[in-house]
Amino acid sequence: MNRPNAQDMKVLANMMKSTIGFDLQDYKTVLVRTRLQKVALKHNMNLDEFLDYVNAKGTSLPQNVMMDIINKIVTFETYFFREDKHIKSLVDMVKELIDGGKNSVRIWSAGASFGQEPYSILMAIHSILGQYYYNKVTVVATDYSDYPLQRVKSGKYSKNEIGRCTTGWQHILNKYVVDMGDDVYKINLPDITNRLFTSQHLLVSEKDNIGLFDIIFCKNVMIYMDTETREKVLTVISKHMSHDTKLFVGMSESLHYNRAKNTVHRDEWTTYYKI
Ligand SMILES: C[S@@+](CC[C@H](N)C(=O)[O-])C[C@H]1O[C@@H](n2cnc3c(N)ncnc32)[C@H](O)[C@@H]1O
Repeated sequence: MNRPNAQDMKVLANMMKSTIGFDLQDYKTVLVRTRLQKVALKHNMNLDEFLDYVNAKGTSLPQNVMMDIINKIVTFETYFFREDKHIKSLVDMVKELIDGGKNSVRIWSAGASFGQEPYSILMAIHSILGQYYYNKVTVVATDYSDYPLQRVKSGKYSKNEIGRCTTGWQHILNKYVVDMGDDVYKINLPDITNRLFTSQHLLVSEKDNIGLFDIIFCKNVMIYMDTETREKVLTVISKHMSHDTKLFVGMSESLHYNRAKNTVHRDEWTTYYKI
Protein backbone atom coordinates (compact mmCIF):
# COMPACT_ATOMS: atom_id res chain seq x y z
CA MET A 1 0.00 0.00 0.00
CA ASN A 2 1.18 3.51 -0.74
CA ARG A 3 1.61 5.21 2.61
CA PRO A 4 0.76 7.64 4.04
CA ASN A 5 -2.83 6.87 3.02
CA ALA A 6 -5.85 9.09 3.66
CA GLN A 7 -6.30 7.74 7.21
CA ASP A 8 -2.59 8.30 8.03
CA MET A 9 -2.80 11.86 6.69
CA LYS A 10 -5.87 12.49 8.84
CA VAL A 11 -4.07 11.33 11.99
CA LEU A 12 -0.98 13.38 11.13
CA ALA A 13 -3.05 16.44 10.28
CA ASN A 14 -4.86 16.23 13.64
CA MET A 15 -1.55 15.93 15.45
CA MET A 16 -0.03 18.94 13.67
CA LYS A 17 -3.13 21.07 14.16
CA SER A 18 -3.72 20.26 17.83
CA THR A 19 -0.09 20.76 18.85
CA ILE A 20 1.25 23.77 16.95
CA GLY A 21 -1.69 24.81 14.79
CA PHE A 22 -0.01 23.68 11.58
CA ASP A 23 -2.36 23.03 8.68
CA LEU A 24 -1.28 19.93 6.76
CA GLN A 25 -4.07 20.25 4.18
CA ASP A 26 -1.94 21.59 1.35
CA TYR A 27 0.94 19.24 1.93
CA LYS A 28 1.63 16.69 -0.76
CA THR A 29 1.52 13.08 0.41
CA VAL A 30 4.82 12.43 -1.32
CA LEU A 31 6.53 15.16 0.71
CA VAL A 32 5.17 13.77 3.97
CA ARG A 33 6.34 10.30 2.91
CA THR A 34 9.92 11.47 2.25
CA ARG A 35 10.09 13.37 5.51
CA LEU A 36 8.57 10.59 7.64
CA GLN A 37 10.81 7.92 6.19
CA LYS A 38 13.70 9.51 8.09
CA VAL A 39 11.73 9.55 11.34
CA ALA A 40 10.69 5.91 10.86
CA LEU A 41 14.32 4.94 10.31
CA LYS A 42 15.36 6.75 13.48
CA HIS A 43 12.87 4.60 15.41
CA ASN A 44 14.09 1.41 13.69
CA MET A 45 10.95 0.84 11.63
CA ASN A 46 10.04 1.00 7.99
CA LEU A 47 7.44 3.59 6.99
CA ASP A 48 4.45 1.19 7.04
CA GLU A 49 5.37 -0.11 10.50
CA PHE A 50 5.90 3.40 11.77
CA LEU A 51 2.56 4.68 10.48
CA ASP A 52 0.78 1.62 11.94
CA TYR A 53 2.46 2.40 15.25
CA VAL A 54 1.43 6.09 15.10
CA ASN A 55 -2.17 5.13 14.25
CA ALA A 56 -2.32 2.51 17.02
CA LYS A 57 -0.93 4.84 19.69
CA GLY A 58 -3.16 7.76 18.75
CA THR A 59 -3.14 10.39 21.49
CA SER A 60 -0.85 8.27 23.69
CA LEU A 61 2.00 8.52 21.20
CA PRO A 62 5.21 9.22 23.21
CA GLN A 63 6.10 12.90 23.27
CA ASN A 64 9.56 12.37 21.75
CA VAL A 65 8.13 10.50 18.75
CA MET A 66 5.49 13.18 18.25
CA MET A 67 8.15 15.91 18.35
CA ASP A 68 10.30 13.99 15.86
CA ILE A 69 7.33 13.93 13.47
CA ILE A 70 6.51 17.60 13.97
CA ASN A 71 10.15 18.68 13.62
CA LYS A 72 10.38 16.88 10.29
CA ILE A 73 7.11 18.14 8.83
CA VAL A 74 7.25 21.79 9.90
CA THR A 75 8.73 24.20 7.36
CA PHE A 76 11.75 26.00 8.77
CA GLU A 77 12.46 27.78 5.47
CA THR A 78 14.34 31.01 6.20
CA TYR A 79 17.45 32.91 5.13
CA PHE A 80 19.52 35.94 6.08
CA PHE A 81 17.99 39.39 5.49
CA ARG A 82 14.80 37.86 4.11
CA GLU A 83 12.31 40.57 3.07
CA ASP A 84 14.90 43.25 3.71
CA LYS A 85 12.36 46.08 3.26
CA HIS A 86 11.00 45.11 6.65
CA ILE A 87 14.47 45.01 8.17
CA LYS A 88 15.14 48.53 6.86
CA SER A 89 11.82 49.73 8.33
CA LEU A 90 12.70 48.10 11.63
CA VAL A 91 16.08 49.87 11.71
CA ASP A 92 14.34 53.22 11.11
CA MET A 93 11.84 52.49 13.89
CA VAL A 94 14.59 51.56 16.34
CA LYS A 95 16.40 54.83 15.59
CA GLU A 96 13.23 56.85 16.03
CA LEU A 97 12.37 55.19 19.34
CA ILE A 98 15.84 55.68 20.81
CA ASP A 99 16.21 59.23 19.47
CA GLY A 100 12.80 59.89 20.99
CA GLY A 101 14.17 59.00 24.43
CA LYS A 102 13.53 55.28 24.78
CA ASN A 103 16.34 53.64 26.66
CA SER A 104 15.64 50.07 25.65
CA VAL A 105 13.88 48.63 22.63
CA ARG A 106 12.48 45.10 22.76
CA ILE A 107 12.06 43.17 19.51
CA TRP A 108 10.37 39.78 19.17
CA SER A 109 11.23 37.37 16.40
CA ALA A 110 8.23 35.04 16.73
CA GLY A 111 8.76 31.84 14.77
CA ALA A 112 12.47 32.51 14.47
CA SER A 113 13.27 29.16 12.89
CA PHE A 114 17.06 28.57 12.95
CA GLY A 115 17.86 32.18 13.80
CA GLN A 116 18.65 33.87 10.49
CA GLU A 117 15.90 36.44 11.19
CA PRO A 118 16.96 37.58 14.71
CA TYR A 119 20.64 37.62 13.71
CA SER A 120 19.85 39.67 10.60
CA ILE A 121 17.97 42.18 12.76
CA LEU A 122 20.91 42.57 15.13
CA MET A 123 23.47 42.75 12.32
CA ALA A 124 21.44 45.43 10.53
CA ILE A 125 21.11 47.53 13.68
CA HIS A 126 24.79 47.19 14.55
CA SER A 127 26.10 47.90 11.08
CA ILE A 128 23.68 50.69 10.10
CA LEU A 129 23.04 52.45 13.43
CA GLY A 130 26.18 51.50 15.37
CA GLN A 131 27.07 50.35 18.85
CA TYR A 132 25.16 53.04 20.78
CA TYR A 133 21.78 51.96 19.35
CA TYR A 134 22.70 48.29 19.33
CA ASN A 135 23.40 48.43 23.08
CA LYS A 136 19.83 49.55 23.72
CA VAL A 137 18.22 46.70 21.80
CA THR A 138 17.25 43.19 22.85
CA VAL A 139 15.81 40.56 20.56
CA VAL A 140 13.79 37.62 21.86
CA ALA A 141 13.73 34.71 19.42
CA THR A 142 11.01 32.16 20.01
CA ASP A 143 9.82 29.02 18.33
CA TYR A 144 7.62 26.08 19.31
CA SER A 145 10.43 23.76 20.41
CA ASP A 146 14.01 23.51 21.45
CA TYR A 147 14.90 21.88 18.14
CA PRO A 148 15.17 25.13 16.12
CA LEU A 149 16.17 27.16 19.19
CA GLN A 150 19.32 25.10 19.78
CA ARG A 151 20.54 26.34 16.41
CA VAL A 152 19.69 29.93 17.32
CA LYS A 153 21.66 29.59 20.56
CA SER A 154 24.66 28.08 18.79
CA GLY A 155 24.77 30.81 16.12
CA LYS A 156 26.46 28.29 13.83
CA TYR A 157 25.65 27.89 10.14
CA SER A 158 26.98 26.02 7.14
CA LYS A 159 28.58 27.74 4.14
CA ASN A 160 25.42 27.02 2.21
CA GLU A 161 23.26 28.76 4.81
CA ILE A 162 25.61 31.75 4.99
CA GLY A 163 25.36 31.99 1.19
CA ARG A 164 21.55 32.21 1.36
CA CYS A 165 21.21 35.94 1.85
CA THR A 166 19.17 38.68 0.18
CA THR A 167 21.17 40.50 -2.52
CA GLY A 168 22.97 43.55 -1.21
CA TRP A 169 23.45 42.28 2.34
CA GLN A 170 26.10 39.59 1.91
CA HIS A 171 28.96 42.00 2.68
CA ILE A 172 27.27 42.95 5.97
CA LEU A 173 26.66 39.32 6.90
CA ASN A 174 30.30 38.47 6.09
CA LYS A 175 31.48 41.12 8.55
CA TYR A 176 29.86 39.18 11.39
CA VAL A 177 30.80 35.64 10.44
CA VAL A 178 33.84 33.72 11.62
CA ASP A 179 35.00 30.64 9.70
CA MET A 180 35.50 27.93 12.34
CA GLY A 181 36.53 25.25 9.82
CA ASP A 182 34.72 22.01 8.91
CA ASP A 183 31.91 23.96 7.23
CA VAL A 184 31.00 25.77 10.46
CA TYR A 185 30.53 29.55 10.34
CA LYS A 186 29.74 31.29 13.61
CA ILE A 187 27.94 34.60 13.98
CA ASN A 188 30.13 37.00 15.91
CA LEU A 189 28.20 40.00 17.21
CA PRO A 190 29.33 42.06 20.22
CA ASP A 191 27.80 41.29 23.60
CA ILE A 192 25.41 38.81 22.01
CA THR A 193 24.43 37.05 25.27
CA ASN A 194 22.89 40.31 26.50
CA ARG A 195 21.24 41.14 23.17
CA LEU A 196 19.65 37.88 21.99
CA PHE A 197 17.46 35.66 24.14
CA THR A 198 15.65 32.50 23.17
CA SER A 199 12.42 31.14 24.57
CA GLN A 200 10.15 28.25 23.72
CA HIS A 201 6.85 29.91 22.94
CA LEU A 202 3.89 28.21 21.38
CA LEU A 203 2.11 30.93 19.48
CA VAL A 204 -1.26 29.23 19.69
CA SER A 205 -1.48 29.24 23.50
CA GLU A 206 -1.09 31.98 26.08
CA LYS A 207 0.89 30.48 28.92
CA ASP A 208 4.35 31.91 28.21
CA ASN A 209 5.00 35.36 29.56
CA ILE A 210 7.78 36.91 27.57
CA GLY A 211 6.63 40.47 28.19
CA LEU A 212 5.75 43.39 25.95
CA PHE A 213 7.58 44.33 22.76
CA ASP A 214 8.09 47.48 20.72
CA ILE A 215 8.44 45.64 17.41
CA ILE A 216 7.27 42.14 16.53
CA PHE A 217 8.27 40.10 13.50
CA CYS A 218 5.91 37.16 13.04
CA LYS A 219 6.75 36.50 9.45
CA ASN A 220 5.92 33.53 7.27
CA VAL A 221 4.49 31.65 10.26
CA MET A 222 0.74 32.08 9.85
CA ILE A 223 0.81 31.08 6.18
CA TYR A 224 0.80 27.48 7.42
CA MET A 225 -2.27 27.97 9.57
CA ASP A 226 -6.01 28.01 8.94
CA THR A 227 -8.14 31.07 9.64
CA GLU A 228 -9.26 29.94 13.08
CA THR A 229 -5.65 29.26 14.21
CA ARG A 230 -4.42 32.59 12.83
CA GLU A 231 -7.02 34.33 14.95
CA LYS A 232 -5.70 32.47 18.00
CA VAL A 233 -2.14 33.44 17.16
CA LEU A 234 -3.07 37.10 16.71
CA THR A 235 -4.86 37.06 20.05
CA VAL A 236 -1.74 35.64 21.73
CA ILE A 237 0.51 38.14 19.94
CA SER A 238 -1.71 41.05 20.89
CA LYS A 239 -1.08 40.23 24.56
CA HIS A 240 2.57 41.12 23.95
CA MET A 241 1.74 44.42 22.28
CA SER A 242 1.30 47.83 23.80
CA HIS A 243 -0.62 50.51 21.97
CA ASP A 244 2.43 51.57 19.92
CA THR A 245 3.82 48.16 19.06
CA LYS A 246 4.41 47.46 15.38
CA LEU A 247 3.72 43.97 14.12
CA PHE A 248 5.18 42.78 10.84
CA VAL A 249 3.92 39.71 9.02
CA GLY A 250 5.42 38.22 5.85
CA MET A 251 5.20 40.26 2.66
CA SER A 252 3.02 37.67 0.96
CA GLU A 253 0.71 37.35 3.96
CA SER A 254 -2.51 39.20 4.32
CA LEU A 255 -4.55 39.33 7.49
CA HIS A 256 -8.15 40.35 7.77
CA TYR A 257 -8.60 40.14 11.47
CA ASN A 258 -9.85 43.46 12.73
CA ARG A 259 -13.02 41.84 13.98
CA ALA A 260 -11.98 41.02 17.54
CA LYS A 261 -11.25 44.10 19.59
CA ASN A 262 -8.14 42.58 21.15
CA THR A 263 -6.39 41.74 17.90
CA VAL A 264 -4.74 43.97 15.34
CA HIS A 265 -5.71 45.82 12.23
CA ARG A 266 -4.05 46.62 8.97
CA ASP A 267 -2.77 50.13 8.78
CA GLU A 268 -0.57 50.21 5.71
CA TRP A 269 1.32 47.70 3.64
CA THR A 270 2.19 44.76 5.90
CA THR A 271 2.46 46.63 9.17
CA TYR A 272 -0.21 45.96 11.75
CA TYR A 273 -0.98 47.88 14.90
CA LYS A 274 -2.90 47.05 17.99
CA ILE A 275 -6.28 48.75 18.10
C1 LIG B 1 8.79 29.32 7.53
S1 LIG B 1 9.54 29.60 9.08
C2 LIG B 1 9.72 31.37 9.05
C3 LIG B 1 10.99 31.80 9.72
C4 LIG B 1 11.23 33.32 9.74
N1 LIG B 1 10.23 34.01 10.52
C5 LIG B 1 11.26 33.88 8.34
O1 LIG B 1 10.34 34.60 7.92
O2 LIG B 1 12.23 33.60 7.62
C6 LIG B 1 8.13 29.38 10.19
C7 LIG B 1 8.55 29.20 11.64
O3 LIG B 1 7.40 29.31 12.49
C8 LIG B 1 7.49 28.34 13.54
N2 LIG B 1 6.17 28.01 14.06
C9 LIG B 1 5.14 27.44 13.39
N3 LIG B 1 4.09 27.26 14.20
C10 LIG B 1 4.45 27.74 15.42
C11 LIG B 1 3.77 27.85 16.69
N4 LIG B 1 2.52 27.42 16.86
N5 LIG B 1 4.44 28.39 17.72
C12 LIG B 1 5.71 28.84 17.55
N6 LIG B 1 6.41 28.75 16.39
C13 LIG B 1 5.77 28.22 15.34
C14 LIG B 1 8.15 27.16 12.83
O4 LIG B 1 8.73 26.27 13.74
C15 LIG B 1 9.18 27.85 11.94
O5 LIG B 1 10.39 28.01 12.59
